[in-house]
Amino acid sequence: WLLPAFVLALGYLLGSIPFGLILTRFTGAGDLRQIGSGNIGATNVLRTGRKGLAAATLLLDLLKGVAAVLIGAWLLDGGGPMAGAMAFIGHCYPVWLRFAGGKGVATMMGVVTALWWPAGIVFAVVWLGMLFGTKWSSVGGMSAAISAPVAMWAFGRLDLVPVSLAMALILLWRHRANIARLTKGQEPKIGKSKDASP
Ligand code: G3P
Repeated sequence: WLLPAFVLALGYLLGSIPFGLILTRFTGAGDLRQIGSGNIGATNVLRTGRKGLAAATLLLDLLKGVAAVLIGAWLLDGGGPMAGAMAFIGHCYPVWLRFAGGKGVATMMGVVTALWWPAGIVFAVVWLGMLFGTKWSSVGGMSAAISAPVAMWAFGRLDLVPVSLAMALILLWRHRANIARLTKGQEPKIGKSKDASP
């Protein structure tokens, strides 16, 4: 039981590194908690006006998901989905931030891609298509998340449907404030979104 517990803990710890918060603090770009939606993800880093930092946050939050899956699979047979799911949970509920973490889009993209890359491609295409089609980052992320269990099922990876579905449901839950804003027509679009309320 020691190795599975270690894989789970390692996945969680990797996922719990809040790159958006670290990068913005480190570069003096401001306190993300006081900006826009207050979220620690790349979308909110973009609201500081620092596009490079936002891209770096997206990439690092994605890569920690990839790393967790690869290390988990390397350490333990079947450890990839376990470590990946825990990295996603670590990102959304990091102990360091009193469990108030991110919304999981970038990290889920990394986990899904590392688990089964064709589903990662579907995720990225749906994300980019909906993001640029609607200009709502949250709609892009939520649509992509829903596409993941569907893609796993369509590609015949039924073993990866439960973990993808679980991540998608948590991701939707983490976006409940965005969903409320969308239904009221108050969700800011990317590019002109400095005024989002938390
Ligand atoms: O990944 C987060 C994104 O979907 C929404 O972010 O800051 O607009 O709530 P935000």
